[in-house]
Amino acid sequence: MSAVQIRELRAHAGKTVTLRGWVVTTRSSGKIAFVVLRDGSGMVQGVLSKKEVPESAWTTFATLTQETSVALTGTVREEPRSPGGYELTVTGLEVLGPSHEYPITPKEHGTTFLFEHRHLWLRSRRQAAVARVRHEVEQAIRDYFYQEGFTLVDTPILTGAIGEEAGNLFATDYFDLGRAYLAQTGQLYVEAAAAALGKVYCFGPTFRAEKSKTRRHLTEFWMVEPEVAFNDSDANMRLQESFVSYIVVRALERRKEELKELERDTAPLERVTAPFPRISYSDAVTRLNQLGSDIRWGSDLGGDDETLLAREYDRPVFVYNYPKQVKAFYMKENPEDPRTVLNNDCLAPEGYGEIIGGSQREDDHEKLLARIRGQGLDEEAYRWYLDLRRYGTFVHSGFGMGIERTVAWICGIPHIREAIAFPRQVHRLYP
Ligand code: 4AD
Ligand code: MG
Repeated sequence: MSAVQIRELRAHAGKTVTLRGWVVTTRSSGKIAFVVLRDGSGMVQGVLSKKEVPESAWTTFATLTQETSVALTGTVREEPRSPGGYELTVTGLEVLGPSHEYPITPKEHGTTFLFEHRHLWLRSRRQAAVARVRHEVEQAIRDYFYQEGFTLVDTPILTGAIGEEAGNLFATDYFDLGRAYLAQTGQLYVEAAAAALGKVYCFGPTFRAEKSKTRRHLTEFWMVEPEVAFNDSDANMRLQESFVSYIVVRALERRKEELKELERDTAPLERVTAPFPRISYSDAVTRLNQLGSDIRWGSDLGGDDETLLAREYDRPVFVYNYPKQVKAFYMKENPEDPRTVLNNDCLAPEGYGEIIGGSQREDDHEKLLARIRGQGLDEEAYRWYLDLRRYGTFVHSGFGMGIERTVAWICGIPHIREAIAFPRQVHRLYP
């Protein structure tokens, strides 16, 4: 007799096995009793017949409550009517850990309550499905870059140079060296690595002290950031559409069950194939005004603008060449219209908004220095970054894709805080 996982039951049909897991529900009709067990790999129903099980097992059954951990022994029987195709005819039952008054009951709970109990809520079917889709997305990202010849470079989380903007930094005292910031991005460092290795990416947690309590913002989120030597902005967008469609296809192919559990309508995801439509920022503003937005040329697209614009397309859309004044200091000035930069955002459909921000980088030493000074940044902290423009400067581009926004979109869940196991928000540090 061996301990097996629920997903392996097929291989053990007709044999006696022991499963270990947690009780989902029980019911009994006097002589026959049922226990639904989950073990992280699947769910299965165990059937106890009063006549046939040892009396101790029958009495133990009566003590089972939601989320009791148990060892369940029985014979694996094919049962086409049950969800996994198998049932267990129970011959033994042992409680491993009792569970008294489990707080999350099958009734509806409010979101605040559920997030207070996030450590337990993760056990629910929907939350497990989201976790598996996220896992698939992350694996797809690694596989894609591996296949395409990128080298993974892990970038620091404690940094001396501000990566994006001064407004939303987490800072900490750093010994005798003054302040250190939690990385808003790994980009500046992958730019250095791109000159060493050509095609690189980093993938890790990033931090923004964003006070915005929207459904698209966390204070800690995961970002994947490729950087490619000699890619211009156009090649950068081609990389993005290839990358995004690869990830979506992987989720559709390998996470069917999870997407079904989440009741995700997959039709909009099936349409996510390259090329993605492109619209310049200036044309986007004109279009948005026609659609009723009061956005003026020169300001950033708000969340509502993104939703409105994305609704015009049946797949993700690139908005390119934004005004310089609303974008980060490192973006390359557009030679054809110096009011703008060679950048793009990628907006997901169905109201999910910006999932990617990318750009060609300013490779001209003097222009970059002027931008750094113009934004009042500490020049000394960027000495190394400017060196990249001093020793063999090169056209290069890259982008950052937010994992939680991407996962929320693929799962079709309304708020990105459910797309990470333990979300960090302005008002949430527990659990
Ligand atoms: O547009 P952002 O700020 O771009 C960068 O950080 C660049 N350095 C990336 C690069 O070119 N290497 O952020 C990129 C993406 C956004 O499109 C969004 O998906 C996500 O990161 N993001 C957030 N996700 C959750 N919460 C937040 N507060 C986020 N801020 C950005
Ligand atoms: Mg952005």
